[in-house]
Amino acid sequence: MKICLLGGDGIGPEVTAEAVRVLEALSRDSEIRLDFSPGDIGYGAYRQHGTPLPDATLALARSADATLLGAVTTPPGIPGYTSPVLGLRRQLDLFACVRPIRSRPGAKPAIDMVIVRENTEGLYAGREHATSERAVTERVITRAASQRIARFAFEEAERGGYDLVTIVHKANVLRETCGLFRSVALDVATEYPGIHAEEMLVDTCAMELIRAPERFQVIVTTNLFGDILSDEAAMLVGGLGLAASANIGADHAVFEPVHGSAPDLAGTGRANPLAAIRAAATMMRYLHHREIASRIESALESVLESKAVTPDLGGTLSTTEVTSAVIAEL
Ligand code: NAI
Ligand code: MG
Repeated sequence: MKICLLGGDGIGPEVTAEAVRVLEALSRDSEIRLDFSPGDIGYGAYRQHGTPLPDATLALARSADATLLGAVTTPPGIPGYTSPVLGLRRQLDLFACVRPIRSRPGAKPAIDMVIVRENTEGLYAGREHATSERAVTERVITRAASQRIARFAFEEAERGGYDLVTIVHKANVLRETCGLFRSVALDVATEYPGIHAEEMLVDTCAMELIRAPERFQVIVTTNLFGDILSDEAAMLVGGLGLAASANIGADHAVFEPVHGSAPDLAGTGRANPLAAIRAAATMMRYLHHREIASRIESALESVLESKAVTPDLGGTLSTTEVTSAVIAEL
């Protein structure tokens, strides 16, 4: 299997290298052959090639079975500079952003949910214009994209053995855009009689995530709402150092830790590699290696249990020491 490896900037290359160490340790004692092809992305790529997302990188990601991404640095104030992560999502048509949110085994409350976020339109469609006195961002919602993301969410529920999908919107105020999203999602729900569907306003959802997070199973929502709710939910189960996300399309998929390039930590050996390793586990599940994915995830649990972690989680280990602890648990 061919894996495109895009380390990016700051701690991105450091944590993805750790994820690769874990995958290589696993492939040594299994049948799995992983072939890693590194590519350039981010501000470093921009300085080297004049673009943060070189064509060669795109070609590499297109030809790979999956892509593992670290993080990129957004440089301030370069005219015309656009996010290579958004570019990658757009070019590969990665329409679904999937964030699993799970508490540790035995934890109370027991949280096990997946947030499915529409990744291509909404307020992030990039349609903005402004004068010095007035700025406008257009919120684009289409039937096609809403249908696609709703179907993905219900199928994700089926795959994961969930029986509740919560459709999150704000159709009482955003009558046109959220109105369309809501009605399309409720229509799609009728195609999945085995799964219960409910709807919830986004502000209620933000509260419910704190009040009773265990009540949720699959949440499906539009781009901006999903961005905010998924960061909120990540904090319920360990925060940035542990959260990973998957960006999935019909033909391609990119897996990444949720955190950024943490320039303050780059080169210090203090970056927490667990989110990147979790992203690698999610990638293996996508590549139909469920057993490998579960092995990595249990090793992560054991490492957290034994507090073999970096300073951000209250430990004293370095990046590479944490990875070695994960590998020892495998
Ligand atoms: P950040 O996620 O890089 O850092 C936020 C805080 O969390 C910092 O204190 C950092 O030290 C800490 N942190 C992050 N990852 C960590 C890890 N693995 N281990 C231990 N501590 C960790 O977000 P920030 O500071 O807002 O952004 C830094 C740069 O990253 C910016 O240029 C931003 O644009 C970019 N960024 C990139 C993302 C991506 O590539 N997907 C996502 C978020 C930010
Ligand atoms: Mg975010």
